[in-house]
Amino acid sequence: MWIEIICGLVIYKLVRRFFYDDEFSDVETSDSTALFSVAHRLEKLYGGKAYVGLRIPDADTASRQDIDVVLVTKGEIVVIAVKNLSGIVTVTSDGSWVCEGGKHHTTESFPDPLAEVKKQASVLESYLEQRGVTLLEGNLSCKVVIPNPSFRTIHAFPSEVITYEDWQQLKPASRSKISGWVKGAFSTGKEMQESSHQKLNFILGTAPTWDRVELKSSKIVLGEFLEFKGKQEDTLALRNIKRSKVDHVSIQKTSMFGLAPSRLQVLYSYRDYRSEGSSGAESKEVTVRSSTEVLFQPRDSTKMKKFKLSSLVSISLSA
Ligand SMILES: *[C@@H]1O[C@H](CO)[C@@H](O)[C@H](O)[C@H]1NC(C)=O
Ligand SMILES: *[C@@H]1O[C@H](CO)[C@@H](O)[C@H](O)[C@H]1NC(C)=O
Repeated sequence: MWIEIICGLVIYKLVRRFFYDDEFSDVETSDSTALFSVAHRLEKLYGGKAYVGLRIPDADTASRQDIDVVLVTKGEIVVIAVKNLSGIVTVTSDGSWVCEGGKHHTTESFPDPLAEVKKQASVLESYLEQRGVTLLEGNLSCKVVIPNPSFRTIHAFPSEVITYEDWQQLKPASRSKISGWVKGAFSTGKEMQESSHQKLNFILGTAPTWDRVELKSSKIVLGEFLEFKGKQEDTLALRNIKRSKVDHVSIQKTSMFGLAPSRLQVLYSYRDYRSEGSSGAESKEVTVRSSTEVLFQPRDSTKMKKFKLSSLVSISLSA
């Protein structure tokens, strides 16, 4: 009898471990957070708008092309791969990178990041063309940003690869740096025509992306929202929250008199298909138990993750 119960428990735990990853693991999530911090800094330095975690449909392969960051400034688009690598990187004869050491003392290998980002840029170019914006040569460039101070290498990389020192030194005031970074936009004084600039922002603003959850710990995880888990009453209350209808969910405490909240206020806004950035989107509010959870599939992991609703600030769903 006891043996059976113990065996049952062990099997239950193993199965749970296999399918879900309750614990918050830094390894998988620091990457997504780095994308946002890089995007944020670029926006501050160069103005314009950065789009993070895009999944651009690739007609040739009938799949999605992941793109970390796309920066749109007046006159240029920069496609950026963020590789927050710590450790020693060697480049092999086929161009791939092997990273050794780092925080977790592992060896990881990546296909040539610059070649990858160029491939992403060409997928993006065809996608924009399909949606009615044709770029000229020189409107688009590629960068690989490595914002990690513990990145070491003996190789000399092409100028498109921005390592920690260069990343630190990027300054809005230094014109020479900018013209190297955003080619043509400032040096020639030419700007994209206002209408094509707006159109570009509209296309990228409505392009498919990863879903994202923002945690109270100010980490952001990209992946795919699957469903809410919890008491039936609560999941029923949340049943309208699906990507076909809703694009943003924010979670608030309903703490009364400083007591630990047992219920959470969930505000969600309906996706607005009518026009670009119109602010009339309808929003709704429901209250659920704080034990309610969110089942999420992070983009870089094979394991699903469960987040307590109370540990989240917001959920954004891609169309
Ligand atoms: C890169 O990863 C390190 C941990 O290895 C982290 O401390 C740092 O904040 C990350 N960089 C960015 C820009 O997010
Ligand atoms: C591309 O660059 C040219 C000149 O540098 C500019 O006239 C044009 O508006 C830019 N943008 C697009 C979307 O073609």
